[in-house]
Amino acid sequence: MSENNLSMATEEVLRIEHLSINFGGLKAVDDLSFEIRDREIFGLIGPNGAGKTTVFNCITQFYRPTEGRVLFRTKEGRVEDLVGQPVHSIIRKGLVRTFQNVELVNELSVLDNVLVGAHIDFKSSGLAQALRLPGARREEKKMREKAQEVLEFMGIAALQNEVAGGQPYGVRKKVEMARTLMCGPKLIILDEPAAGLNDVETQQLAESIHQVREKYECTVLLVEHDMRLVMNICDRICAISFGKFLACGTPSQIQSDPHVQEAYLGEKEDEA
Ligand SMILES: Nc1ncnc2c1ncn2[C@@H]1O[C@H](COP(=O)(O)OP(=O)(O)OP(=O)(O)O)[C@@H](O)[C@H]1O
Ligand SMILES: [Mg+2]
Repeated sequence: MSENNLSMATEEVLRIEHLSINFGGLKAVDDLSFEIRDREIFGLIGPNGAGKTTVFNCITQFYRPTEGRVLFRTKEGRVEDLVGQPVHSIIRKGLVRTFQNVELVNELSVLDNVLVGAHIDFKSSGLAQALRLPGARREEKKMREKAQEVLEFMGIAALQNEVAGGQPYGVRKKVEMARTLMCGPKLIILDEPAAGLNDVETQQLAESIHQVREKYECTVLLVEHDMRLVMNICDRICAISFGKFLACGTPSQIQSDPHVQEAYLGEKEDEA
């Protein structure tokens, strides 16, 4: 495929162009375009079933979009279309995500769950690691130290040897976020990070998202139903409904947009 027109403005990290995906007869995402700039905290909002998680799945190539392009500026600074690329190669390029339902290995410790996020960064071969050759041991030690540093940063270092399964939801979410930080992310995608958190935990989360951006010098894309959180922390927001673009702009532009208001009012009436 020609790479001639893989161009993005220098400040852009991700550019979605005319993205569509069909499930049977349903157009879950329908000709959606938006772009995210370096170091932005960018929100994707929309009523239940609007297609937000599906957009994430199309970006990370968990689903292959029916049409459109997902241009991404990699860690190395190359612009690539991610469509059709294998999921693991996308993580290596600096794009990582968390899931709407926290996905941890319950039987493993908090620390080991974070180390799972690092294994893609291991440079030693599987054989060198299995034989525990000195290079692999050194690397493992380095990774453990990095995991401990990340857990410290997230404020849960004291729990590192506890089994992940028994931890409260707020802690599990932090473990998942810690895991994304292990592979030197450039863009972190968070699917409903505040779901299930209380007010204090949500406030802490808002602070950690800001701190993550500063310390790890990355961009954040998030889906979130907690409007207070979205409006507080996002630099810009894209609103969608039935898979279609509604509006994109600053929190105040989005709040006063008539299409957005209509989409949310419609949802309330449906629920009544
Ligand atoms: N794998 C799939 N197969 C068939 N339909 C799907 C699939 N995944 C999602 N859908 C449908 O696509 C639409 C968008 O779903 P999606 O989960 O992306 O919405 P969402 O905006 O994330 O919703 P929520 O706010 O509830 O998380 C829904 O109608 C959903 O039923
Ligand atoms: Mg969803």
